[in-house]
Amino acid sequence: MSQHGTPLAITASPSGPLRGVAEVPGDKSISHRALILGALAVGETRITGLLEGEDVLATAEAMRALGATVTRHAPGEWHVQGVGVGGFAEPEQVIDCGNSGTGVRLIMGAMATSPITATFTGDASLNRRPMGRVTEPLALFGARAFGRAGGRLPMTVIGAVDPVPVCYELPVASAQVKSALLLAGLNAPGESVVIEREATRDHTERMLAGFGAELRIEDGAEGRVITLTGQPELVAQSVAVPRDPSSAAFPVCAALIVPGSEITVPGVSRNPTRDGLYVTLAEMGADIAFENPREEGGEPVADLRIRYTGALKGVETPPERAASMIDEFPVLAALAGFAEGKTVMRGVKELRVKESDRIDAMARGLEACGVRIEESEDSLSVHGMGPSGVPGGATVESRLDHRIAMAFLVLGMAAKAPVTVDDGAPIATSFPAFEALMTGLGARLGGQTRGESA
Ligand code: S3P
Repeated sequence: MSQHGTPLAITASPSGPLRGVAEVPGDKSISHRALILGALAVGETRITGLLEGEDVLATAEAMRALGATVTRHAPGEWHVQGVGVGGFAEPEQVIDCGNSGTGVRLIMGAMATSPITATFTGDASLNRRPMGRVTEPLALFGARAFGRAGGRLPMTVIGAVDPVPVCYELPVASAQVKSALLLAGLNAPGESVVIEREATRDHTERMLAGFGAELRIEDGAEGRVITLTGQPELVAQSVAVPRDPSSAAFPVCAALIVPGSEITVPGVSRNPTRDGLYVTLAEMGADIAFENPREEGGEPVADLRIRYTGALKGVETPPERAASMIDEFPVLAALAGFAEGKTVMRGVKELRVKESDRIDAMARGLEACGVRIEESEDSLSVHGMGPSGVPGGATVESRLDHRIAMAFLVLGMAAKAPVTVDDGAPIATSFPAFEALMTGLGARLGGQTRGESA
């Protein structure tokens, strides 16, 4: 799982109008959490709509390694026979989380208050990412971690034998850190408290409540205070995973820059903690309708209808919105290249520690495609080309980052000349059907194994 196989160059060429229904895959964040909470519950959790991308499959494998029984019954339909809170077994082998920061950080949290030892690794991208943001607060519960310099994987976590509850204020806006601590708090006696200044995605809180955990959430002057009572009995659930708004962002943005497009994306999560891109697109003048709003699996969902109406206008995204659209900045930066005027993204330094340094990856790729940018440690500005159009005609690096690869393929669909991504293989981590789905809508995408001639 540590490699994405042979690098696969993919080229996006100027495409005709995109039309049709885009059934994007299940939400990645919710899929990880359904498997982990299913593994910690008593009884059989039934999941439908699970994302079957490499990241989530690695988490399924990790749950098996920790003693849960995880079975696939049909596409997207998985059952998890849980071991109960505190019931994890010590894994016999190293746990390989592939490309997934969410997977490794949440699993470290979930096992950190059990008397077991586990060693974690990942691919070249994951092994560069900081784990100290999780292991330092996990030490407050009594867990110990030993990794490479800078708190990097591979890393061994020794779970606490007698865990104690903690009170911790997050120093970074990170749902992964928050979730790791809440999952660790499950097996600590008494109340654990996690405080976040800025709201981050709240799927862990929603799902913990759904599985029967006792959880209090208070919004106050210091931010959101989440209090979890430890050692509950989690009860197996049926979880219907809504479609991923972060994956939906790719066909949505493509339809907004390819003239004449009109698409529908059904059943997309509209969780307010994930909604920042859609707020931003509305400010830019996009025509997006949210139809049939309803609740599915404890999450608000709607059907999205998107119509191309001409060039959008550049806007500023404020720092306080960053967490609610943190995974959408690459595709927003690509779309901003087609807008009229400048788009400024502020408060985005967390992008530097994602699957790649996404500010640098987008900046270099956009420059190669003929778009002027400005960057700082914490911001990215894109000078939209408006009616003169984005030249394209470049090969850009995806840097083992699925969202960088998809963002530049979207850009290539509307640029004046084709854009090639040097390696599209990482797309399989979150959106295995991306190429087929986009081609079905009318995109011109062509794959090619490196070494083949054009
Ligand atoms: C995620 C949280 C975010 C996001 C990631 C998924 C989650 O990461 O970028 O893709 O499922 O909790 P951070 O917590 O590092 O911001």
